Amino acid sequence: MGLGWIRLVMVVMLLVLELLTCCFFGCVSAKEVYVVYSGGHGGLQPEEVTEMHHSMLVSVKESVDEARESLLYSYKHSFNGFAAQLSPAEASAISEMEGVISVFPSKGRKMHTTRSWSFLGIDNGTQKDESSSSNTLWKQANYGEDTIIGLLDSGIWPESESFGDDKMPPIPSSWKGICQEGELFNVSHCNKKLIGARYYLKGYEMYYGPLNQTATPDYRSPRDRDGHGTHTSSTVAGREVSDASALGGYAAGKAAGGAPKARLAMYKVCWPIPGGDSAGENTCTDADMLAAIDDALGDGVHVLSISIGSSGKPEEYSRDAIALGSLYAVKQGVVVACSAGNDGPKPATTSNVAPWIITVAANSVDRNFPSPVLLGDGTKVKGQTVTPYKLEDKFYPMVFAADAVLPTVDKTNISAGQCLPGSLDPEKVKEKIVFCLRGNGPRVGKGLEVKRAGGAAVILGNLPANGAEISVDAYVLPGTAVISNDTEIILAYINSTSAPLAQIVPAKTVLGTKPAPFMAAFSSRGPNVLNPNILKPDITAPGLNILAAWSQAASPTKLLADDRRVKYNIISGTSMSCPHVAGTAALLKIIHPDWSPAAIKSAIMTTAVITNNRGSQMTDASGIPATPFNYGSGQLNPNKASDPGLVYDATIEDYLTFLCSSGINANNALNTTFQCPESPPKSSDLNYPSIAIANLTDTENITRTVTNVSGKSEYTVSVDEPPGVSVNIHPNKLSFQTSGEKQTFTVQFTLKKPLNQEYVFGSYTWNDGVHKVRSPIAVSAM
Ligand SMILES: *[C@@H]1O[C@H](CO)[C@@H](O)[C@H](O)[C@H]1NC(C)=O
Ligand SMILES: *[C@@H]1O[C@H](CO)[C@@H](O)[C@H](O)[C@H]1NC(C)=O
Ligand SMILES: *[C@@H]1O[C@H](CO)[C@@H](O)[C@H](O)[C@H]1NC(C)=O
Ligand SMILES: *[C@@H]1O[C@H](CO)[C@@H](O)[C@H](O)[C@H]1NC(C)=O
Ligand SMILES: *[C@@H]1O[C@H](CO)[C@@H](O)[C@H](O)[C@H]1NC(C)=O
Ligand SMILES: *[C@@H]1O[C@H](CO)[C@@H](O)[C@H](O)[C@H]1NC(C)=O
Ligand SMILES: *[C@@H]1O[C@H](CO)[C@@H](O)[C@H](O)[C@H]1NC(C)=O
Ligand SMILES: *[C@@H]1O[C@H](CO)[C@@H](O)[C@H](O)[C@H]1NC(C)=O
Ligand SMILES: *[C@@H]1O[C@H](CO)[C@@H](O)[C@H](O)[C@H]1NC(C)=O
Repeated sequence: MGLGWIRLVMVVMLLVLELLTCCFFGCVSAKEVYVVYSGGHGGLQPEEVTEMHHSMLVSVKESVDEARESLLYSYKHSFNGFAAQLSPAEASAISEMEGVISVFPSKGRKMHTTRSWSFLGIDNGTQKDESSSSNTLWKQANYGEDTIIGLLDSGIWPESESFGDDKMPPIPSSWKGICQEGELFNVSHCNKKLIGARYYLKGYEMYYGPLNQTATPDYRSPRDRDGHGTHTSSTVAGREVSDASALGGYAAGKAAGGAPKARLAMYKVCWPIPGGDSAGENTCTDADMLAAIDDALGDGVHVLSISIGSSGKPEEYSRDAIALGSLYAVKQGVVVACSAGNDGPKPATTSNVAPWIITVAANSVDRNFPSPVLLGDGTKVKGQTVTPYKLEDKFYPMVFAADAVLPTVDKTNISAGQCLPGSLDPEKVKEKIVFCLRGNGPRVGKGLEVKRAGGAAVILGNLPANGAEISVDAYVLPGTAVISNDTEIILAYINSTSAPLAQIVPAKTVLGTKPAPFMAAFSSRGPNVLNPNILKPDITAPGLNILAAWSQAASPTKLLADDRRVKYNIISGTSMSCPHVAGTAALLKIIHPDWSPAAIKSAIMTTAVITNNRGSQMTDASGIPATPFNYGSGQLNPNKASDPGLVYDATIEDYLTFLCSSGINANNALNTTFQCPESPPKSSDLNYPSIAIANLTDTENITRTVTNVSGKSEYTVSVDEPPGVSVNIHPNKLSFQTSGEKQTFTVQFTLKKPLNQEYVFGSYTWNDGVHKVRSPIAVSAM
């Protein structure tokens, strides 16, 4: 009672304060959407939870009506929380209330924008239909039939052949989801493949205003106008389509998702940001994403694939909608795979780093689209493209964009060479090949500018930061793209002659290229900035130049000025690699229905490979060796993941204890009822399938526990020590007598010499002659 009074007085004071601020600042944008998070709901019925949210709001608002209007979402199926429009003072008052764990502004996150499955060895690529495929994992898992995969994304194009339900059995009786009607979307758009579809835009509209056909064209329904959600959906669980190819016939062949008979449920949470022609800029708000995860868990999904995340430093878990929502997912046995982000090659850029999430980096596949450039002096440089147009088979005059800008553009500015909209002088580029540099603005937009100004073709040159990696594009005119070393060669050639000439050789699709995989430069990297004692990313999968289904409302370039339409499109990003891991998790769920999300993650991680198809260590596109900070445990290896031998398991309590250990919030940010142990174990001791130690001093022991999940019983360990660090494992032999038996061991790290804060890498592997259970190690020290 006494406490209650104090709170009331505080609330009144804060409201007075707010009134004062209003006088000064005019109150215009004083309210924004906040997420209020209160942990579990302790067995309350959904209506009771909503009632509670109402009364919390009533206590800080002027009237019952205002309280009701301010509430956007009541999260009640799996966890307890809500999203509401609040002033900072109201938010602060609510954060003081009993049971409230965190209150944070709902921020916008970004989408991290298939040969790939046969490259992973899961589909031999020669079979005509699902039933005759000889692949063991697909057969073993019955193609993922009856696992339900939920995606948070930009919606779905339901008419795509990849989402057909021919010969699919009835919808699993466990399914409680819906097919939400809306613009150009009704219940008939769902089927036995796409079994659920919903959309969430209250958080978005509160921020950007109502969807607007001019400024933010999109469908007020689960239908995908962007393309991204259709692409990820078909990668995770698209049906087999035998004659898929990108515009111009590139990458022709069979397209299929990782779990071709799994069911899909789309939760549309990403919407366009107002402004400009650079379509593809989207945002997905915390408030909308939490509502989607809450519904997905209530609907009964088994796997969540989330190709969305922050850019820049990740938020603490208690303020991160994806981390919070997925903790409850994992508690419910739902596996969550998320993209690591596209902020590489800079270190310490990985997002979605919570240890209960599978964080996925991106690599190439063994496919190229060579389209070389011949220069007038006889030099030939490599290029790559999937542009569907060809130049005539002859030399054309060539000009560097910076030498062909309008008089109004500053030629000395680096961006003068970047073919930005409206920069080129038609007089100077007419019927020429224009050489443009990457940098500001979308790559395909540069081709659009060359076309606008009347150029014959575009050659896009990588900057040193882009290195030797090419994300292929379907330009709106003939063109190709070259690596940064070749940018230098072309610029020097242009500079060396008064009449530079060039010819572009039309592209073709080449399979079996080497080396593959290599790590994508854009893929975000470790170390983990929130918890350096958890190695992130966890795993890598194909994400460079991936072919998958596309929205019929979007052009392949996503540019609004481009009116071409394609059924399948090639795009890149960790957004594309994440669904590969989610699809594999869906198959493992079928084969091992009793495995926890941590066990599935462990199986995926400890069986991953770190070599390329030349048998050497994976590198980036320039040949620089990659490390666990690029690829985590290595490249996804679906066939091996079904039989890992041993797993590193973890329960929800282990994750909560981990939060106590890492001191993120001493009173445990995620669970009010959970009590932190008096002296929690080190965060490195979370039973994780990899080991990271930041600032090793002298010596440290790490504990791990493995569970027997396969037949053999005698394992011995081998260690690949990080340079300068000795690693001793006790015991170095493990013997299992029964199924599901657990054995604990200690990994002792001893510093042999100063590391000057540089990270060094190694690994250890348990081997029984059949299974190799490998864990990467990352260590830093003064
Ligand atoms: C749903 O939409 C489709 C295609 O737009 C239309 O043919 C069908 O009649 C609609 N069905 C219902 C039940 O509204
Ligand atoms: C849509 O956005 C445009 C551009 O911002 C604006 O001019 C127009 O008034 C808006 N329309 C509506 C219906 O809000
Ligand atoms: C260079 O041009 C870009 C794009 O027009 C502009 O944003 C930038 O401010 C310019 N930089 C300088 C140094 O003038
Ligand atoms: C172009 O040539 C001039 C003179 O030959 C030289 O000074 C300059 O560095 C060259 N620029 C490039 C980009 O090669
Ligand atoms: C680019 O040029 C540098 C310097 O000559 C060289 O070391 C590197 O190997 C080249 N990279 C590629 C991918 O050719
Ligand atoms: C909170 O902690 C309690 C007690 O340990 C546990 O039973 C419950 O599952 C936890 N809830 C969540 C969401 O972790
Ligand atoms: C490691 O040491 C650096 C430099 O002293 C410090 O900034 C960082 O917080 C330390 N990290 C951990 C995990 O202790
Ligand atoms: C680490 O483990 C080894 C072997 O189990 C043991 O001998 C040593 O005392 C331990 N060190 C510490 C600091 O606990
Ligand atoms: C290990 O576990 C597997 C599966 O849980 C079981 O089949 C096998 O018999 C166990 N191994 C031993 C030696 O008991």
